[in-house]
Amino acid sequence: MIGDKAPETAVWAYNGVTPGPVLRLRQGTPFRATVENHLAEDTTVHWHGIRLPNAMDGVPGLTQKPIPPGGRFDYAFTPPDAGTFWYHSHDDGLLQMGRGLVGALIIEEAEPPAVDRDLLWTIQDWRLESDAQIAPGFNNRMEEAMAGRIGNMVTINGFVPDAVRVRAGERVRLRLLNAAIGRIMALRFEGHRPVIVALDGQPCAPHEPADGRVLLGPAMRADVMLDMSGEPGRSYRVVDDFYGGLSYVLVHLAYDEASPLRPHPLDAPRRLPSNPVPRPDLATAVTQAVHMQGGMMGGMRGGGMMGGMMGMGGGAAWAINGQSMTGDGGAGMKPLFRIERGRSCILEFRNETMWWHPMHLHGHSFNVLTRDGVPVPHDEWGDTVLVRPQERVRVAFVADNPGDWMLHCHIMDHQVAGLMGVFQVS
Ligand code: C2O
Ligand code: CU
Repeated sequence: MIGDKAPETAVWAYNGVTPGPVLRLRQGTPFRATVENHLAEDTTVHWHGIRLPNAMDGVPGLTQKPIPPGGRFDYAFTPPDAGTFWYHSHDDGLLQMGRGLVGALIIEEAEPPAVDRDLLWTIQDWRLESDAQIAPGFNNRMEEAMAGRIGNMVTINGFVPDAVRVRAGERVRLRLLNAAIGRIMALRFEGHRPVIVALDGQPCAPHEPADGRVLLGPAMRADVMLDMSGEPGRSYRVVDDFYGGLSYVLVHLAYDEASPLRPHPLDAPRRLPSNPVPRPDLATAVTQAVHMQGGMMGGMRGGGMMGGMMGMGGGAAWAINGQSMTGDGGAGMKPLFRIERGRSCILEFRNETMWWHPMHLHGHSFNVLTRDGVPVPHDEWGDTVLVRPQERVRVAFVADNPGDWMLHCHIMDHQVAGLMGVFQVS
């Protein structure tokens, strides 16, 4: 993948490709998939963000037995919500996802918005060696306690992209999926004004991001409406500048020479039809604290090696409320908390660490209420919320889906090193 003459990179793949085949389903229409495991180790498939029955959630040891080499498992569910979702391995996830076991899952609206094109960018991050093969050394203790495994090569839909061809005047619905195991992204579309219409598949009030950058932690998705307002024949950069000083050009938007498709931007509404996600009742909601703890302290840059390990056992670098669930999680650990089925619940994430954490909840979608006490505008929903160092974020959801569900950071190094737990809805 590095240059034309480099050898191909050996990956782990769904149906021979990474990212896996794009699955396009209809909202409310039953779906079935048989997963056959041709790997030499156990696996499962998790349908990230889909509000599905617990037994279909794909968490080994918690919702199903792992699929052994040579084994198979039938997944079946009916997606209740339209939007941009994805699927990935949930067994040995750091390594299996890092080697390529991810794919996009698009649930189509019955009446999709008027756009000229619907594009999907599944963005992956790879750490490759000079022979273009994936570098070994997953589960590095140092990285686990810091930002996680960040690679040296970013791909869109499995390729190192050069340019995406566009036509002046067209409106594109661009579905962005951060399928990286550790890299956080902040995408700036030079010369353009992206309007976010959905986050994690769930529609929000259409809005331009506050500082113009679309911020995506691992596992997060954004649907943006992009009016191609640039000049025919010109090329514009899409830059990821999340990590200060390490910004890079993700891709160019290369305009066709043709005259604009239309004289003025399309004036069709951008708002997406809403999904049937229940709105939590804040007046009767129970509040549950989720304190994220551990990791290397902020003094690292000065060379200090202060591990904030706080007496955690078993190779853990992180904890939630003082408990560390490591590896694939699974059975045998008592839930962090229990919620009565049907109750509204407020989760109060408190990031006590010096690192960013995209916190993901299985089986439910939540409404993001406040950040450091300040109300979040645009009626934002999601299944993963990016929490800054030291930040407090409150989200709320109706615990209407019975079962034992995962709650974890989606930086895979953090998850396997303890930033994971289970909650029970019963
Ligand atoms: Cu995207 Cu626990 O998963
Ligand atoms: Cu994290």
